[in-house]
Amino acid sequence: MCAQRVVLSNCSTDALTSAAEKLRAGGLVAFPTETVYGLGADATNPAAVAQIYDVKGRPQDHPVIVHLADINQLDEWVAEIPEYAIALARAFWPGPMTLILPRSEKVGDFITGGQASVGIRIPNNPLALQLLMLAGVGVAAPSANRFGAISPTSALAVQEEIGAFLNPDTDVILDGGSSDVGVESTIIECLGDAPKILRPGAVTKEMIEEVTGLAVDESSSSVRASGTLEQHYAPRAKVFLLDSENPVIACIAGVGFIALEKFPTPDGAIRLAKPANSDEYARVLYDALREGDRKNLPAIYVVPPAGTGVAVAIRDRLKRASS
Ligand code: TXA
Ligand code: MG
Repeated sequence: MCAQRVVLSNCSTDALTSAAEKLRAGGLVAFPTETVYGLGADATNPAAVAQIYDVKGRPQDHPVIVHLADINQLDEWVAEIPEYAIALARAFWPGPMTLILPRSEKVGDFITGGQASVGIRIPNNPLALQLLMLAGVGVAAPSANRFGAISPTSALAVQEEIGAFLNPDTDVILDGGSSDVGVESTIIECLGDAPKILRPGAVTKEMIEEVTGLAVDESSSSVRASGTLEQHYAPRAKVFLLDSENPVIACIAGVGFIALEKFPTPDGAIRLAKPANSDEYARVLYDALREGDRKNLPAIYVVPPAGTGVAVAIRDRLKRASS
């Protein structure tokens, strides 16, 4: 382990300028976004992108999202954009949304896993936007965790996940505090006549339908997305989901417990989070699961939030974490 050798940097202008130089030189930069932290590399540099796969331990044929600073860069990266996708881009970028669009010739197979489409996102985080602007290149960035693990929502979590795999001479982790949203972006496939949600997030089905005037296509997708694998986003602890109507724990002392504030902590359980509402739930969930692993808990019992909005994304991630 050599975690302490890696520079965990603040986000001063100098630090951002230096990180942008690292990106241009083929290094890796872990950076904050409003959803989760990303592990970035120059999206036009195949060797740099290959490094991301090495650090994550991720299969080579999984596509990565290209992050841009400005909607005007979109034409470089995509071949054509359906009307409804333009409406989504205008409404929700910068923001927690990734659009899957037909790729332009500039986009290499090493970005798309050989698929004909590319995922694009403009994140809504001032440090991320400044970094992207200074780098002046598209930045390929998956979440900055090892493959299959929980996405990091703080620089410390990035350090714990991948710090030991980074090269302190070429790579850096930027510290921008805790992520505001806390779950990964909504991924919307924009290849057919209507938008299709591949991964739910803070941009919800209702919001998409309102902005596009179209019903979301509910048919299953032929596009591969690793975030849609059954077992993904999992801590080491075994996760058990409880019924939100009747959250009975046959309580085993020493298990973790995550639920909205209104649910009391069962006797003997260790409370890992008590968010007041769904937004806060999303913000604290991954760190709470991580805390369960830090405490070496064998199991975490979770009462998922009910209802629409970001609660849909939370239930999606919890279902995967528990399968
Ligand atoms: O919020 C987020 O989206 C974060 C931050 C860092 O931007 N990124 C993120 O990346 O979650 P990642 O790689 O962990 O998850 C992106 C998902 C993956 O499941 C990937 O397979 C899918 O997006 N994806 C990327 N490009 C795709 C494409 N062309 N077609 C289908 N799925 C794609
Ligand atoms: Mg991920």
